[in-house]
Amino acid sequence: MTLYIALTKIWSTMDHDLSFDFVCRAGICGSCSMVVNGKPRLACKTLTSEFKDGKITLLPLPTFKHNRDLSIDTGNWMNDMSVKVESWIHSKEKTDITKIEKAVEPEVSDEVFELDRCIECGICLASCSTRIMHEDFVGAVGLNRSARFALDPHDDRTDDEFYELIGDDNGIFGCMSLMGCEDHCPKELPLQTKIAYMRRKMVKVK
Ligand code: SF4
Ligand code: FES
Repeated sequence: MTLYIALTKIWSTMDHDLSFDFVCRAGICGSCSMVVNGKPRLACKTLTSEFKDGKITLLPLPTFKHNRDLSIDTGNWMNDMSVKVESWIHSKEKTDITKIEKAVEPEVSDEVFELDRCIECGICLASCSTRIMHEDFVGAVGLNRSARFALDPHDDRTDDEFYELIGDDNGIFGCMSLMGCEDHCPKELPLQTKIAYMRRKMVKVK
C-alpha cells in the first residue's frame, strides 16, 4: 500500500483527528509532500513495502507554514513566489483571438512543457540548504519558473528584466548547487541545468 492508504487507514481506524493533505492520490497535485524517514517525498507515490524493517517515521515538510500534524501550507508561499518572479507571459503584442496561434519549434515547446510539469509540491525547497538559511530564497521551483518563461518565445522579457526579478541572493545567486532539489524532485525536473542556464544569462547582464 502507499503511505496515503496507510495514513487513511490510521485516520479511519485509530486517530480521526490526524491531519494530512491529499487531493489527487496520483502524484499530480503536489499536496501530499512530507518527510519520510528523513527524506522529502510524496506520500501517495511512496510504497510502505520499501521500508523492509516496517519502521516509517513521518514529519511535516519543513520551511513552510505548519498547519497541524502532517499538514502544511504551500499554497500561500507558492502564490507569493509566483508574484515575485512574475510567473506569467509578458508580451507587448496585443492578443488577437482571430489569428492562428504563433508557431513554436517543437523542441522549444517540449522544453517548456518539461518545466511546466512542476507540481509545486515544495520538495525542492525542503531539500535546499539555501532556503533553510534564507527565508526569501525563491528556490528551484521559482528559478525553474523563470527559466520556463525565458525559454518561451511568447514571452518577450529581456535578460535585464529577468535580472530585476531574480538577479540577487534570493534568486539565481543564492543557489549553492548542492543538488538537493534535483535529487528529490518527484517529477525529475532538470532543475540544476535550468538554474545554470539562467545563471549564465544573468552574469552577462551589465
Ligand atoms: S521543482 Fe520538483 S520538487 Fe520543486 S516544487 Fe516543482 S515538482 Fe516539486
Ligand atoms: S495526493 Fe496529489 S501528489 Fe499526492
